[in-house]
Amino acid sequence: NMKPVQVKLVLLGEAAVGKSSLVLRFVNDEFQENKEPTIGAAFLTQKCRLEDKVIKFEIWDTAGQERFHSLAPMYYRNAQAAVVVYDVTKASSLEKAKSWVKELQRQANPNIVIALTGNKVDLVSGGRKSRRTSEGEDEDEDQDAQEVDEDDEDDEDYGVSRQVPTEEASAYAQEAGLLFFETSAKNGEGVAEVFTEIAKKIPLE
Ligand code: GTP
Ligand code: MG
Repeated sequence: NMKPVQVKLVLLGEAAVGKSSLVLRFVNDEFQENKEPTIGAAFLTQKCRLEDKVIKFEIWDTAGQERFHSLAPMYYRNAQAAVVVYDVTKASSLEKAKSWVKELQRQANPNIVIALTGNKVDLVSGGRKSRRTSEGEDEDEDQDAQEVDEDDEDDEDYGVSRQVPTEEASAYAQEAGLLFFETSAKNGEGVAEVFTEIAKKIPLE
């Protein structure tokens, strides 16, 4: 009775939001800083142990570039689960995610479990103010100039800021009947949870 239950899962979302990186984190617990864009789609598998069952995910990681859009139905057609990914630093990627959700709700299996995932939260999380005092600072002749906008939050220092508030995406997810997560493929935050929560929601045949 511990024979794995196979679950076909598809990842969808705009190019470069981190779909392949999420899969690489889940399957190999790795991260690549400059991951190449997916061409067509990639197939990977990974098991997930729950208390009462083992799920074997059969994962189709699709290509987000627009020229591959027409291939997507082949991958979501029989899927029991979908992870629709956006990038929390790019508002337009949430709009793209919403359009994928609409397409799934019209054309995929009516029982499909859909998880909306805001990725790259490592780029916007707080608690990194100590970086200001990292090495190299002593080379800075004019420290006073550095202090001018010290009351600004740290995100701006690195040229990236959050464009999608958690509450906005989570309210949309609730309204549309989706699971909702925020993740970082880079540091692993929230990644296992996406797959575990999906596994728990898959109806047993
Ligand atoms: P396509 O295959 O073209 O659809 O892209 P994708 O959604 O698979 O994105 P991919 O995983 O290739 O990641 C795109 C870029 O974002 C890569 O340079 C990754 O290293 C980076 N990246 C992915 N996830 C994260 C993350 O959680 N944090 C940060 N900081 N960078 C990330
Ligand atoms: Mg990819």
